[in-house]
Amino acid sequence: FRAAMPNRLMLAITTGALALSVNAAPLTRDNGAPVGNNQNSQTAGPNGPTLLQDVQLIQKLQRFDRERIPERVVHARGTGAHGEFTATEDISDLTLAKVFEKGSTTPVFVRFSTVVHGLHSPETLRDPRGFATKFYTADGNWDLVGNNFPTFFIRDAIKFPDMVHSFKPDPRSNLDDDSRRFDFLSHHPESTRTLTLLYSNQGTPASYRMMDGNGVHAYKLVNDEGQVHYVKFRWKTLQGLKNLDPKENEAMQGKDYSHLSRDLITSIEKGDYPKWDLMIQVLKPEDLAKFDFDPLDATKIWPDVPERKIGQMVLNKNPQNIFQETEQVAMAPANLVPGIEPSEDRLLQGRLFAYADTQLHRVGTNGLSLPINRPKVDVNNGNQDGAMNFGQTTSGVNYQPSRRENREETPRAVYSKLELSGTTQQAPIQRQQNFKQAGELYRSFTAKEKTDLVNTLGGELAHTDDEAKHIMLSFFYKADAEYGERLTKVAKADLKRVQALAADLED
Ligand code: HEM
Repeated sequence: FRAAMPNRLMLAITTGALALSVNAAPLTRDNGAPVGNNQNSQTAGPNGPTLLQDVQLIQKLQRFDRERIPERVVHARGTGAHGEFTATEDISDLTLAKVFEKGSTTPVFVRFSTVVHGLHSPETLRDPRGFATKFYTADGNWDLVGNNFPTFFIRDAIKFPDMVHSFKPDPRSNLDDDSRRFDFLSHHPESTRTLTLLYSNQGTPASYRMMDGNGVHAYKLVNDEGQVHYVKFRWKTLQGLKNLDPKENEAMQGKDYSHLSRDLITSIEKGDYPKWDLMIQVLKPEDLAKFDFDPLDATKIWPDVPERKIGQMVLNKNPQNIFQETEQVAMAPANLVPGIEPSEDRLLQGRLFAYADTQLHRVGTNGLSLPINRPKVDVNNGNQDGAMNFGQTTSGVNYQPSRRENREETPRAVYSKLELSGTTQQAPIQRQQNFKQAGELYRSFTAKEKTDLVNTLGGELAHTDDEAKHIMLSFFYKADAEYGERLTKVAKADLKRVQALAADLED
């Protein structure tokens, strides 16, 4: 049989290359050179060791060894989709941002995520959910990096690393332990509202499509006269809201812990494209003083401030490569465009630094040049070099200003002005009102939602250290007496002690 076979076919069988013959494109190494044999390492004879000179083997292993980049320190598990935003209203009285010019459409990439656990953790875990949108606008990229909850646990960026450490597993055992977060948050009564959301069924959404997104912070919209308005953004789902109750969530966990990614990907594949309306609430700067809480505090919503629709987003294309798009996308609250500016919210101010900083480490110095992050407009400045630089330098003028070739500044991109007075300080905000909105939220739930919340949260509090447990319960009692009493019962705590602690709390 061997003797009768043509030499080339014989070679294909012995090297194992036969299966590849259907693919006409040659297999190459990274230098573009064709590969002779990808099935067997080069060895010293039939019984000898593998040779270091087998460049194909060495390169393949080297590249494989380096496939991972650091995962996000939070929001590691995510799923993304491409789409389009259409501005539907004229809000030129509020902002000069091109993304909001009525009738214009802007490409977007959205990444949804869980928060606390790692890249391959179950999507059934109780968590806030990230809802981050990159708008590739005609004025550069704007990222609205939000969550499904409209409020946050803390109000000052200096507490964020502590908060995240307390939510992550114990560093000694890598085991989850909710009592760690209650130990920390018992020092932070401002977390009462967002904790109520977290342990409600909103902490376990049924689908990323059936979830709102919230900018959480106030941002500033600036018009062409330099006038400032404070706004909150919300993506309102047009699919209807849907969450899993504890039983449904437990059943899902046993069946499919990637249900959120799967639902989004398969809907888009089927042509069932999810849509959201973009809503804003607007306040004039002079309105900020009129509230009995600080409206720039990220632990608060703005009740009774009317909401209006300004646009709509549709997600209509799945990524072609999860790593290159969903993983390497670098969303940052500091990616702002003329007409949209940060407010003085102390949490947002810290975020302006933290995302770009972590991305220099996670994606690299030139990460913003990657296709998923690159703006759809020209980037034109003197920033240069650095690891993995792959841009084309076409000008020798890498400074500004210059008489040879100037890069003009854009007057409409100048920041708005803010009047300031007083001294520097390190002090809490003045109008805290830590409990009122948490009580209103509890009372807005249906009877079943209240019972699910009380059982879930009370059940976790039951395992918390005695003192932290009673302090936490006093927060919930202060928000709403019935809420606090029911939780105290489930957590097997002392109601009189809870009431005494609550009596000492300032609203
Ligand atoms: C991701 C820090 C508060 C929403 C991240 C990342 C960091 C971070 C370091 C990883 C970014 C990356 O590797 O690309 C912080 C700090 C905060 C804060 C320091 C407070 C001071 C918030 C708040 C929200 C939020 C209030 C919601 C409004 C998100 C989302 C992501 C994220 C959605 C994932 C973005 C993506 O999908 O790529 N955060 N965060 N974070 N954060 Fe925050």
